[in-house]
Amino acid sequence: MPETTLKLLVLNGPNLNLLGLREPGVYGVLSLEEINHRLIAFGEEMGLEVQTYQSNSEGALIDALQAAREWAQGVVFNPGAYTHTSIALRDAIASINLPVVEVHLSNVQAREDFRRVSMVAPVCLGSIAGFGWRSYCLGLRALAEYLRNKTTEK
Ligand code: DQA
Repeated sequence: MPETTLKLLVLNGPNLNLLGLREPGVYGVLSLEEINHRLIAFGEEMGLEVQTYQSNSEGALIDALQAAREWAQGVVFNPGAYTHTSIALRDAIASINLPVVEVHLSNVQAREDFRRVSMVAPVCLGSIAGFGWRSYCLGLRALAEYLRNKTTEK
């Protein structure tokens, strides 16, 4: 029996539009466009409809989270540096009643002290960091498995 297609948003915050150019030793050589193509293809294999959006603006990210209530079943979110600072994004995640998986390309726990603090982690379903662009694949897989099993499991 085919599984229902889940609609998921992959949301990226500030400076992630420069992936591939920006500190490639930390964040990898793939552009955001290339990563997004791979995520859409990965989603198709898993029966997911993946939509992508990036903004450098906190307000636009909040708008995208609020709009996702209308069409998505969950969000994979890399808030970039706003991870460490934004109470407004944390409140937005807590407000939308959708599962959100926090992802990071780099292992934020192994970097500067300020990156060890996440304002959003306490209101997210879970967090994945350190696997490069594959962190997003892991986030999509985790979210899909959660959504497909949550009605049948505790
Ligand atoms: C990042 C980690 C953040 O600390 C940083 O500000 C980023 C990228 C990551 O994906 O590893 O912009 O979210």
